Amino acid sequence: MPTWIVTGSNRGLGLEFVTQLAADPKNTIIAATRSISRDLASLDALKSKTKNLHVLECDTGSQDSITKFASIISQLLGKDAKIDFLLNNAGINANSKMTSLTMTADALTNHMNVNVMGPAKLVQVLEPHLQDGSVVMNMTSGLGSLGYNRTKENPECTVYAMSKAALNMLSVHQAAHLKRKGVRVVMIDPGWVKTDMGGSGAQLEKEESIGEMLRILNGIKDDDSYSGRFFLYDGSERPW
Ligand SMILES: NC(=O)c1ccc[n+]([C@@H]2O[C@H](COP(=O)([O-])OP(=O)(O)OC[C@H]3O[C@@H](n4cnc5c(N)ncnc54)[C@H](OP(=O)(O)O)[C@@H]3O)[C@@H](O)[C@H]2O)c1
Repeated sequence: MPTWIVTGSNRGLGLEFVTQLAADPKNTIIAATRSISRDLASLDALKSKTKNLHVLECDTGSQDSITKFASIISQLLGKDAKIDFLLNNAGINANSKMTSLTMTADALTNHMNVNVMGPAKLVQVLEPHLQDGSVVMNMTSGLGSLGYNRTKENPECTVYAMSKAALNMLSVHQAAHLKRKGVRVVMIDPGWVKTDMGGSGAQLEKEESIGEMLRILNGIKDDDSYSGRFFLYDGSERPW
């Protein structure tokens, strides 16, 4: 009975993770969403058909919300329970037109808070539940690759790209700091996918990206050599 946590699960790639995971009754799924006091029709529909799906509030931009979320998890699962997979999926790309010449401190702070500090704090507060064989997946982006950005004449989404590069560095540190516990930490770029963030002109459907990512994630829990590495959704390795 693997236990999965997915942040940002009310739409986009997070919702697709929950949809695919819910198809297997052996999975226990914690679908975390920024706010539970609003329309969550897609998650509610899945919940009505899935016994082991719990919808909980977790605003990954709020340290208080993340701390409350962890204490509810401990009550729900038990204080010594293992989380098999923590999928730090929630993310923002709110100022995509800003460049290095126009970016603001507020925009950078906002992206660092949600895209980097959110996954950092979640690992901190859930650490007692991250045990031998647990996997943490930090959802990164090709835009977080320095090598990729160097190939671009006019690199895009500067603050988002900076936050994903920082998330990659965080992940390498988490992989090292959690190694002694047998916890694996990986970064995965889902590819360019048709979601609100990716837009309708993106290359990939959600089903394909997430289907491939779940295949990789299920392999990782038995193999320490994946930890601290940066993958594309299809399992190929991304340049830093
Ligand atoms: N789509 C792509 O092509 C692509 C490419 C590379 C990387 N990614 C990454 O993949 C992940 C998912 O992206 P997506 O395409 O599914 O984006 P999306 O359609 O914009 O969905 C983003 C999800 O993150 C949630 N979220 C944002 N801020 C949050 C917060 N403070 N607390 C809790 N949840 C929050 C959103 O919740 P609300 O509904 O409350 O806003 C939503 O559920 C992100 O980390 C993104 O950077 C996507």
